[in-house]
Amino acid sequence: MNQEAWKKVEAAIEASKGTTIRQLFAADPARAERYTASAAGWTLDYSKNRIDANVMKALLKLAEAANLKAEIEKMFTGEKINRTENRAVLHTALRNCDPAAKVLVDGKDVMPDVRAVLAKMSAFADKVRKGEHKGFTGKRIKYVVNIGIGGSDLGPAMATIALAPFSKRGIKCFFVSNVDSTHLAETLREVKADQTLFIVASKTFTTQETMTNALSARTWLIEKLPSVNPNDVVSKHFVAVSTNAEEVSKFGIDTANMFGFWDWVGGRYSLPSAIGLSLMISIGPANFRKLLKGYWKMDKHFRTAKLDRNLPVILALLGILYANGYHAESYAVLPYDQYLSRLPAYLQQLDMESNGKSVTKDGKPVTYTTGPIEWGEPGTNGQHSFYQLIHQGTHLIPCDFIGFCKTHNAIADHHDKLMANFFAQTEALAFGKTAEQCRADGDPENLVPFKTFEGNRPTNTLLADELTPETLGALIALYEHKVFVQGVIWDIYSFDQWGVQLGKVLAKNVLKDLTADKPSLKHDSSTNALIARYRKVLGR
Ligand code: F6P
Repeated sequence: MNQEAWKKVEAAIEASKGTTIRQLFAADPARAERYTASAAGWTLDYSKNRIDANVMKALLKLAEAANLKAEIEKMFTGEKINRTENRAVLHTALRNCDPAAKVLVDGKDVMPDVRAVLAKMSAFADKVRKGEHKGFTGKRIKYVVNIGIGGSDLGPAMATIALAPFSKRGIKCFFVSNVDSTHLAETLREVKADQTLFIVASKTFTTQETMTNALSARTWLIEKLPSVNPNDVVSKHFVAVSTNAEEVSKFGIDTANMFGFWDWVGGRYSLPSAIGLSLMISIGPANFRKLLKGYWKMDKHFRTAKLDRNLPVILALLGILYANGYHAESYAVLPYDQYLSRLPAYLQQLDMESNGKSVTKDGKPVTYTTGPIEWGEPGTNGQHSFYQLIHQGTHLIPCDFIGFCKTHNAIADHHDKLMANFFAQTEALAFGKTAEQCRADGDPENLVPFKTFEGNRPTNTLLADELTPETLGALIALYEHKVFVQGVIWDIYSFDQWGVQLGKVLAKNVLKDLTADKPSLKHDSSTNALIARYRKVLGR
C-alpha cells in the first residue's frame, strides 16, 4: 500500500474522529445525496459512514497512487496479472455481451470460444428443460445434482436459490460439495436415479472432495440402473464442467458431454462460465443471459466511471478505511431477502480466498491489514441474533445492508415490515440513542447506561428495485470488483490461493495413516494420538 498516500488518509481520519455520523448529518442537509451513487440497477447510499470530504479525497488519492485505472485496464485486456500462476484474469470476458467484442490472450481472441460454450450450454439446458434429454430408461430429467466444491459450488448454489422465482419448478437442483458422505447420501434420498442428471463441476477435475462424490454417485447410479454396459447409463446421466478434458475422459465422461472453460477463469469467479450450467438449467438460457447482462453493466460502470462515482471503488475504499484506519477485523453483509440466504457464504470465498494474503506482490511480508473477515445472515434473522453486538458491543463491524423495493412473494404487509426493519437498522446504527433520549422516554436512571446506543456505527445501503437475474449479476460483479480494488491497493495477488494447498497435501498423508495396516505416524504427538484414537474406535 502506498505509504505516503496512506499517511494522508490517516491524517484525514484523525482530523475527522471528533465528529460523529449524527453530527455530520446535522451539519450537511445534502449529505445523503452527496454520498449516494448508482449503477446497473443499484443505488449505493454510503452517507452513514465515518467520512467527510477530506477522508474521501484522501482515500481516492490512495486509489490513484496505486494506479488503479491502469490496473483495471490490465485486467480487462487480458494481461497476465495473476503472476504467481502466470495467468490472465478474464472473468469479465465471460459476460461481455458485445457481439463484436474481441479479448486477446496471448494474441488469441477468446470471445469465439466463450460464445461457443454459451451456445452449447444453452442448447443442452433447453433440451433438459423441454424433456428432450432423456435418462437411460427414457424418462425426462427432474433432478439436477451439481457435484463441486468452492467456486464450483458456491456460485451456482447461491444463484439457484436467489433466482428461484425465475426457475422451472419441475426441475429440482441439488448441490453436493462436502466429502462428508452425509451430504451425498441425503441428496440421493431426494432424487430418483432414472430422472437425475449429475453435473460434475471441477475446474481441475482432480479435487478430492468432488472426485470422491462423483465416483460414489456413479456407483450408486450404476447400481440403481443395471445395464450390460454401465457407460451407456453414465453417458445419459453425467456431464462434466471442467478445463481438464483428459481427466474428464479418464473419469468415463464422454468429452462431447463436457462444457469447457479456461485457466483465466478463477474458481470463485466462475459462475458466469460453464460452472453456471446447473443454474442455466434451472432458470433457462434467456434468464442466464440476463444475469450476464447485469454483470456486464457493472463491468462497464467499473471500467469507465470516475473513481468518486464508481460503486466498486467506493465500497473498496470504505472497506480499507475501516480495516486499516479503524482496525475493524470483519464486516457483515446483511441481505434483506430470503432468496439471498447464501450470498454471505458466496462472498466469503470471493473475498477471503482472494485477499486473505500476507505478502506483497514482490514477496515481502505486508506491514498492514489485508482481507477482512466477511460474514452475515439474511435479515431479519440476524437482528434476533448477533445484531446486539453490532449495536452495543466493543467491536466495530461495518455492515452492507442489501434490499429490494419489491418482493416476488407479496403476502399481506410482510415486505413493508421487512423493509421497515431494513431502513430502521441503518438509522439506529448511525444515530444510536442518547442518554437524554432514554430519559425523555422515561427510562429509569439505573437503566440508562444499558439502553443508550452510542451510534456512529457505519453502514452501506444497497437498494435495487427487484431481485432479478440482472440485478443479481450486477451485485456479484460489484463485490468482485470491490475485492479487486482492495487487492490492488494492498499490493497483493488476489487471484491465486496457495493457502489452501498445504491442508490438501497433509490430508493425503493423514489418509494413508488412517487406513494403512501399519501407519507410519510421523506427525506431531497431538496428531499421532488423535489418529491412534480414531483407529482404535474403528478397530484398526
Ligand atoms: O479450495 C481451493 C479451490 O482451488 C478453490 O479456489 C476452487 O474454487 C475449489 O478449490 C474447487 O476447485 P475445482 O473447481 O478445481 O474442483
